Amino acid sequence: MGCGFLLNGRHVEIDPGAPHATLLDILRSRGLTGSKEGCAEGECGSCSVLMVADEDGQSCYRAVNSCLMLLPTAADREIYTVESLANGGDLSDAQRAMASAGGSQCGYCTPGFVVNLFAEQYRRDRVGPCDPHALAGCLCRCTGYRPIRDAALSVGPPPDGFFKERLQRPAALLDAVAGERFARPTTVDEAVAWLASHPAAKIVAGCTDRGVEFNLRHARWPALISVEAIAELHQFNETDAEVRIGAALPLTDIGGRWLKAPAVVGEWLTLFASPPIRHRATLGGNLATASPIGDSAPLLLAWDAAVHLAGPAGRRVVPLASFFTGYRTTVLGQAEIVVAISLPKPLPDVRFYKVAKRRLDDISTVSAAMAVSLGPDRRVQQARFAFGGVAATPLRVIEAEAAAQGQPWNARTVERVQQAIERSLSPRGDHRGSKAYREQVSQSLVERFWLETTT
Ligand SMILES: Cc1cc2nc3c(=O)[nH]c(=O)nc-3n(C[C@H](O)[C@H](O)[C@H](O)COP(=O)(O)OP(=O)(O)OC[C@H]3O[C@@H](n4cnc5c(N)ncnc54)[C@H](O)[C@@H]3O)c2cc1C
Ligand code: FES
Ligand code: FES
Repeated sequence: MGCGFLLNGRHVEIDPGAPHATLLDILRSRGLTGSKEGCAEGECGSCSVLMVADEDGQSCYRAVNSCLMLLPTAADREIYTVESLANGGDLSDAQRAMASAGGSQCGYCTPGFVVNLFAEQYRRDRVGPCDPHALAGCLCRCTGYRPIRDAALSVGPPPDGFFKERLQRPAALLDAVAGERFARPTTVDEAVAWLASHPAAKIVAGCTDRGVEFNLRHARWPALISVEAIAELHQFNETDAEVRIGAALPLTDIGGRWLKAPAVVGEWLTLFASPPIRHRATLGGNLATASPIGDSAPLLLAWDAAVHLAGPAGRRVVPLASFFTGYRTTVLGQAEIVVAISLPKPLPDVRFYKVAKRRLDDISTVSAAMAVSLGPDRRVQQARFAFGGVAATPLRVIEAEAAAQGQPWNARTVERVQQAIERSLSPRGDHRGSKAYREQVSQSLVERFWLETTT
C-alpha cells in the first residue's frame, strides 16, 4: 500500500516496504541539500526541517532533526526545508537576521539555525523577541554564538504570507499505514495484533533512540511498527486522583498540556535534550529503552508512577519501581506496548537534579529526584530518593527512604541517608564519570537537597 508526505508543498510518495532510509537521505537525494548531515545523532541540528504539528487543535511549526526520522514515519506529515523559506529570492526574516548579524561563516550549520529560528518566530504563544534558547539544538563550530543570539533577538512577529496563513488550517491527521515491513496502526488492539503476527518487529515512537541506533550503530530491523498514530497513546488527562500521560505524547506536548504542572516539570524538560529532540521524544520510548541514565525514570519513580501496558493477554498496570528488570531490560513481554504512565495524586513535592558535562543538552552522568514531606512533629512522614546513572537501572533507594522515615530532617538524618545510598548504589564507571565520582555526586546531591529544603 502506498503512502506519502507533503514536501515543500508537493506530494512525495513513500514506499513503506523500504523502511531503511531517513528523511534526510531523501531530501538530499532530491537535491534539497540545504539540510546537512553533521552528526547523524540529533546533536548538531544541521539537518533540521520544519514539521507542521498539532498543538491542542491548532497547527504549529516544529523544528525536527531529519537525520532521526525514518522515512515511513514521515507519512502524512507536512515538511518544509530551508529551501522553501525564501519567497522567490526574498529572504525570510530568520535568514535576513542571520546574514545581517554576521551569524554565518562556513555556513554548514546555518540552514539548521535558520529553520529553528523560523519555527521560533511562528511560535503561537511568543511575545517579544525570539528566544535564543529555541536554538539550543544547533551547534556552530566557527561563528560563535553571540551573533547568532543577536540574530534571534532581532526577529519580530511573523509577517503575513503563506507560512502565517498555513497555520490557520489544522495539521494533517496521521492515517494508518499497513505494510509487511512497516505498519502504523491507529488503535492499541491493532498494534498488539500486528506485533503478535510479526514477532521480529520493533516498535518506534519518536525515533530519537532508534534513529541513533540506525545511523551510528547500523542497526537494521526486519520490520518496524510506529505507535505515533494511536490516539490513546497521545492522551493527557489530569483528574483529582491522577495525572495520566500517553506513552507516545512528545515531551514538548507534555509541557504544553500539563497546565497545572509543578515547577519541577518545566525544569526537568529544560534539562532533557534540546527542543528538536523534545518535539519527538516520548515518555514511552524513554522508559522502554531502559537506559540507566534516562532522565524521566528518577522523576517518575519519586512520584510512584505506574506503567500501563497492553499485550496479547490483555492490559496490566505495573509500578514503575518494578518495570526495569536489569540493564536495558524491562517486564515488557512479546507484542506488549506501553500505553500510558500514570501518577497518583497528590504528587510529592519533588526536586530534580541532573549532573552532566554541560548544563543544557547533555546526557546525564547522575540524575536524582528527591522529596521529603514533614509531619506536624517536623519529622519525615514520607521520603523519596530516586537515582539514575548509579546502577544497572534507574532506581528508588528504599533503604535511604527508610533511614529518613520518622526522623527529624537534620544533618544527622542526611548522613544516615547518605550511608544508606552508599550501601545501595553500584555505579559503573564510563567516559562520563568514574564509579567514585558517581558515588560522591549522589551523596552531595542529597546534601544539596537538604540545604535547599531547609534554608
Ligand atoms: C541528541 C539526543 C539527546 C538526548 N538527550 C536525552 C536526555 O537529555 N535525557 C534522556 O533521558 N534521554 C535523552 N535522549 C534519548 C532519547 O531522546 C529518549 O530516550 C527519548 O525519550 C526516547 O523516546 P522516543 O519516542 O524517541 O523513542 P524511540 O527511539 O522511538 O524508541 C526507543 C525504544 O523504546 C521502545 N518504545 C518506544 N515507544 C514504545 C511503546 N509505546 N511501547 C513499548 N516500547 C516502546 C522502542 O521499541 C525502542 O526500543 C537523547 C537522544 C538524543 C538523540
Ligand atoms: S545531523 Fe546532526 S542533528 Fe541531524
Ligand atoms: S558557520 Fe561554520 S559551523 Fe557554523
